[in-house]
Amino acid sequence: MDEPIVRAVKLRKYFLATKHGILETLFRRKPLYVHAVDDVDLEIRRGEILALVGESGSGKTTIGRILATLEKPTGGELYFEGERVTPSNVKQVRKRIQMVFQNPMESLDPRMSVRQVVEEPLRALGLSGDERRRRVEDALTAVGLEPSIFNYRRPRDLSGGQRQRVAVARAIVSNPKFIVLDEPTSALDASVQAQVLNLLVELHRAYGFTYLFITHNISVARYIADRVAVMYAGKIVESGDVRSVMSEPRHPYSQALLKSVPTVERRGLEPPTGEVPSLIAPPSGCRFHPRCPYVMDVCRREEPALLGADGVSVACWLYGAKRVESDA
Ligand SMILES: Nc1ncnc2c1ncn2[C@@H]1O[C@H](COP(=O)(O)OP(=O)(O)OP(=O)(O)O)[C@@H](O)[C@H]1O
Ligand SMILES: [Mg+2]
Repeated sequence: MDEPIVRAVKLRKYFLATKHGILETLFRRKPLYVHAVDDVDLEIRRGEILALVGESGSGKTTIGRILATLEKPTGGELYFEGERVTPSNVKQVRKRIQMVFQNPMESLDPRMSVRQVVEEPLRALGLSGDERRRRVEDALTAVGLEPSIFNYRRPRDLSGGQRQRVAVARAIVSNPKFIVLDEPTSALDASVQAQVLNLLVELHRAYGFTYLFITHNISVARYIADRVAVMYAGKIVESGDVRSVMSEPRHPYSQALLKSVPTVERRGLEPPTGEVPSLIAPPSGCRFHPRCPYVMDVCRREEPALLGADGVSVACWLYGAKRVESDA
């Protein structure tokens, strides 16, 4: 099989918890950490769309930023096109990756013209001015913005949908190997959302881009993705072929998450019950155990490993999971 384009092994990101006030955090004998991403294994294959879904605060953006090399992990290994990412090659790796953020108003520099915004990733590539101009025009055309009209406009003069198209043009202009899209349509009106989503699907079809598509919207994930990974409290609890996971979710959390989506037969909105756990002191064993309707003794004591069969992996004792080997 093809070498995955991105591979993360035991990826970890702990943030210093500053919620209690920076002084208390600093003077504690043992500082408190937010376990935002905890020992995550993940593979993204060339040309696929992997959706990363999960509730707010489950660590989706943190994973996206680490895979885009915008954030340094606290632990674990990251491989890009088979090569381990290290401080000495990270700048070279970053040239092959782009990210689109949720809010194009914050992510686009308001002082720049559309042309300058889109051209930015090309500056690191040593192309001639003519070549850069041609590429910018191609990218704008590809996202449905006529260059002669939009080149010299400024992001603040555009509608939300147009702005996000500019962000997409910037993301594709350097022909990257991998694009992280973090809730790229969540801030847009419903009708515009569908247009931008369709544009992303078209670009993926036409150019064979590889996407990590972060969303809390299950219907969007179902529509756009080949595979899906479900996150809960800093962990991936289930991953696999999108049809398989959506039609027959194995993990009780995936089941609860999918049940909360309205369908033709079900009016929906039955989110998982109970509190989202603290990421400063995550629950012992399986992190979902305090909210799980099927909780067993072992779930409180031991963490289940993410194990696969038939293209779907699940981390749950109901499926005879193995214990996670602890390196502590
Ligand atoms: N720079 C930071 N410093 C401290 N804590 C952080 C930082 N960034 C994220 N966190 C914490 O890490 C956890 C995961 O956050 P993250 O933004 O990755 O979640 P998310 O799944 O993207 O959520 P959302 O759906 O709301 O975007 C949260 O508890 C968040 O508060
Ligand atoms: Mg996020």
